[in-house]
Amino acid sequence: MSHTCRIELDGKSYDFPTVEGTENERGIDITTLRDRTGYITLDEGYGNTGSCTSAITYIDGDKGILRYRGIPIEQLAEKASFIETAWLVIWGRLPTAEELQRFRTRLTANEMLHESLRNNFEGFPPNAHPMAILSAMINAMSCYEPDMMDIEDDTTLERAAARIISKVRTIAAASYKMSIGQPLMYPHPEYSYCKNFLHMMFSLPYGEYEPDPEIIHALSLFLILHADHEQNCSTSTVRMVASSGANMFASCAAGVCALWGPLHGGANVAVIEMLEFISQSGMKVSDYVAKVKEKDSKLRLMGFGHRVYKNFDPRSKILKAAADKMLARLNIQDPLLEIAGELEDVALNDPYFVERKLYPNVDFYSGIILRAMGIPLNMFTVMFAIGRMPGWIANWKEIHDNPKARLNRPRQIYIGNTIQDYVPIDQR
Ligand code: ACO
Repeated sequence: MSHTCRIELDGKSYDFPTVEGTENERGIDITTLRDRTGYITLDEGYGNTGSCTSAITYIDGDKGILRYRGIPIEQLAEKASFIETAWLVIWGRLPTAEELQRFRTRLTANEMLHESLRNNFEGFPPNAHPMAILSAMINAMSCYEPDMMDIEDDTTLERAAARIISKVRTIAAASYKMSIGQPLMYPHPEYSYCKNFLHMMFSLPYGEYEPDPEIIHALSLFLILHADHEQNCSTSTVRMVASSGANMFASCAAGVCALWGPLHGGANVAVIEMLEFISQSGMKVSDYVAKVKEKDSKLRLMGFGHRVYKNFDPRSKILKAAADKMLARLNIQDPLLEIAGELEDVALNDPYFVERKLYPNVDFYSGIILRAMGIPLNMFTVMFAIGRMPGWIANWKEIHDNPKARLNRPRQIYIGNTIQDYVPIDQR
């Protein structure tokens, strides 16, 4: 049923149409608001603002539901590979066997870096943050792909997507190797996506790293669970950049920068730092939680809370189970996991967190799982970026394919000085 929204402003009334999504999410279409009324809406942090319609990912934050292209995340976690999931997210349906094979072949063909691009690594100091390197290198990739600056057909789009998804893994591993002063490892064409990444991270010229199958599985799961999450901060950034007509490489490089912050992708690092702090300080978990709750406290319980989920983040449930299984199988006794469990118990039973609907989010357990895989802390957010690449590409594609897409350009309410005269420097 279609509804109308009536707004009364300055004695006049205006009707605006409403829109309804396929899962009955409702919005008020205010596209003509400013032209008709002279008013804009103000929604700092965009908590109530739909910036687009999208057919990629559905989230019901109250019920803890996440689906890519309609398929529940639980089914993909159990049955799909990351590459199959990536294709689904980008192209809107599961690939046929032939399409999947073609995409895999493209990934393998693109796993190496151009030797000149490889040389760029030398320009970074050894302690450079891998997120800075990743963003710079994804942008630099565009210099080597002149035919992909303007994507006009599906084949070029698939080639470009394969190029970024494949090379981002090589760049990530290379930035780690550079940071510890080890030689960069070439990829192995016969390895799967995840095994190849682990090989480039941990093999040495004189010693091949053989990952436990449980580690490969956990990595695949981690990447699948991060593949998309509708209009989060980094994806919105990708869409913003894409809306100017910028190429896929530039748009995804911008996504990496947005992901870096501790309130977004950087939270998986902040979780481990918090757990380490509690462990090393000898502080009781309940005392830490009490500190977080203090009025005017700047401390937050990292890995808790979400702008959209007001229930358990479904990704954290899957990751927690995988973390438990992997730690048991590898016989890892991680004291941080104990603290994490205690924190979860305290927070889930504390009225402060219950009333505010603050549940563990994906970052709470992803840190634990990455740590158990041997991934260093400063690479955690890079791992998130590798996983999120299909989502960024799918969102870039949605804008690129939409003939009605407009330049994203929000308005503001100006609260600065009213007009004043310039004062010469000797009179200030
Ligand atoms: N610990 C303690 N209190 C919290 C937390 C937290 N983690 N998160 C929110 N709150 C409190 C706020 O202080 C606020 O309390 P108040 O009403 O008394 O002022 C209330 O809950 C609402 O918080 P907001 O900041 O309005 O919630 P918002 O939706 O803006 O924030 C966010 C969401 C940024 C994720 C927040 O919960 C947070 O900072 N969490 C910790 C960081 C984190 O884990 N980020 C990862 C998110 S998942 C991802 O990006 C992949």
